Amino acid sequence: MDQQMLLLDRMEPIAKITLNRPKSLNALNSGLMKKLADELEALDRDEAIRVIVLTGSERAFAAGADINELSETKPVDFVMKQFFRDWERIRKISKPLIAAVNGYALGGGNELAMCCDMIIASDTAQFGQPEILLGVIPGAGGTQRLTKAVGTKKAMEMILTGKSISAEEALQWRLINRVVPAEDLEKEALSLAKEIAEKPPVAVRLAKQAVLKAQELPLEHGLNLEQNAFFLLFSSEDQSEGMRAFLEKRKPEFRGE
Ligand code: HXC
Repeated sequence: MDQQMLLLDRMEPIAKITLNRPKSLNALNSGLMKKLADELEALDRDEAIRVIVLTGSERAFAAGADINELSETKPVDFVMKQFFRDWERIRKISKPLIAAVNGYALGGGNELAMCCDMIIASDTAQFGQPEILLGVIPGAGGTQRLTKAVGTKKAMEMILTGKSISAEEALQWRLINRVVPAEDLEKEALSLAKEIAEKPPVAVRLAKQAVLKAQELPLEHGLNLEQNAFFLLFSSEDQSEGMRAFLEKRKPEFRGE
């Protein structure tokens, strides 16, 4: 992997990816997004890894798409270079993703955090969609995911004013899971990752898929999908092991089978 833009720490069964363009506050150019999608897909296939933590630097998780690159991009380039393809690849990662957010999570940075399944923020974090200040609107899911997370009124205010909100506000608005002191951010994110990594991997993947589908499907279809996933899990070793361990009053050992 290009150590310039992304750093990978393997702490099996957890992997941590650090966005590493500190001079531009981790501005997300297309090279970085491609490397991120490549790395996430590789970890998604890697049997030794169960949960992935995505983080940035102390000053910024990511201050948005790279405005230098965007300012030179023509509409046809977005189409021909499939500008959003790597975002789609990230959306399809099946293992749990936890964003550990320090400092700025703006524009594409906030959209990337929202692509993750859970967000832990330090008390220095700021979340915002400032695209309106540049004459555009969010393009990587901001109008959709933010609205689903915080509701129409709050999303409208953030997207139309471009103003950021603090970590505390983001917590109150249900955009994030929790706020911790900056010095505890990594520890908290890794401890949540570890807790989930101990759970049965097949059930974890199907649970992630089912929860995400709740955003898209009418209730009847969502319930159907949930039931089918529930039935399927009764063919897994992890289900036999989980129930047997409960009845034998011991700790289960889940192998993802
Ligand atoms: C390119 C960026 C950048 C960005 C910061 N930098 N954000 N470069 N793209 N999004 C660069 C600055 O140019 C500067 O480079 C260095 O990082 C440090 O930034 P400063 O502005 O000097 O820092 P500060 O004064 O502390 O202000 C921090 C900031 C500000 C409030 C985060 O940088 C800012 O407003 N950035 C832009 C945020 C934004 O508009 N994001 C949305 C982008 S559009 P030099 O070389 O001068 O040191 C978007 C659309 C997504 O995300 C669409 C889908 C992908």
